[in-house]
Amino acid sequence: MKQKIETISEQLLKIVEQKLHNADVGHDIWHIRRVLSNAMYIQSIEGGNGSVVILSAVLHDLVDEKYFDVSQAVTEVRSLLRQFNISSEDIESVLKIITNMSFSKEIDGITQSSPEFNIVKDADRLDAIGAIGIARAFSYGNQHRRPFFDPESFPVDHLSSASYRSSKSPTINHFFEKLLQIPSKMMTHTGREMALEREGFMTDYLQHFFDEWRVWDETSAHAWNDLLQRSFKNR
Ligand code: ADP
Ligand code: NI
Repeated sequence: MKQKIETISEQLLKIVEQKLHNADVGHDIWHIRRVLSNAMYIQSIEGGNGSVVILSAVLHDLVDEKYFDVSQAVTEVRSLLRQFNISSEDIESVLKIITNMSFSKEIDGITQSSPEFNIVKDADRLDAIGAIGIARAFSYGNQHRRPFFDPESFPVDHLSSASYRSSKSPTINHFFEKLLQIPSKMMTHTGREMALEREGFMTDYLQHFFDEWRVWDETSAHAWNDLLQRSFKNR
């Protein structure tokens, strides 16, 4: 008997929770549920294959090279979806989406485009910005033993995924190196609107952070405030 997609999604969430139990707090089951909720919202406005969107959102972190052997993970996800009687066509669409949507793939210029890919990638990116994004960034920074901020260490352009992954820069730099660039890279109209609102909150947050820092020398205070003003203008 064919089950409804909502029932399948609930069952898959339980499996995903178990598989991600060793992942960091930024990739726990709440991240997956938020991405699913963002994705369903965007899909409800922009259209696209709802089942492929739901399955991709739920499964998107199961093929992450940070936690899993990718080719083994792909085989496992394929057989899992077969057990739920998902059509081969939908299974291959889901796999194509989830193996191509990471930040690192984007830096390396690996792109995809389908309405469903755009929706799920936007949904994942939304969770990296705004209030939740700030929490995830500092949590990541703490896990990698990065300082919050160092006024003498300025943001850089990461031109490859290797440089992005091996970066030792303080967490505030990540806002300039990555997070404030997310809204302009959103693929759907709805996702972009949501991203712009979250961006406004992040730039306000950074302004407060710099105001409260107080222990500046004048040159670096100028430089950081200039950087921030430029991102206000880019809005
Ligand atoms: P994904 O799992 O979507 O490919 P990442 O593993 O790159 O993404 O990032 C997961 C979360 O950790 C995101 O919220 C991201 O902003 C944050 N993060 C990644 N790199 C850094 C960093 N250098 N400093 C602070 N936060 C980071
Ligand atoms: Ni994710």
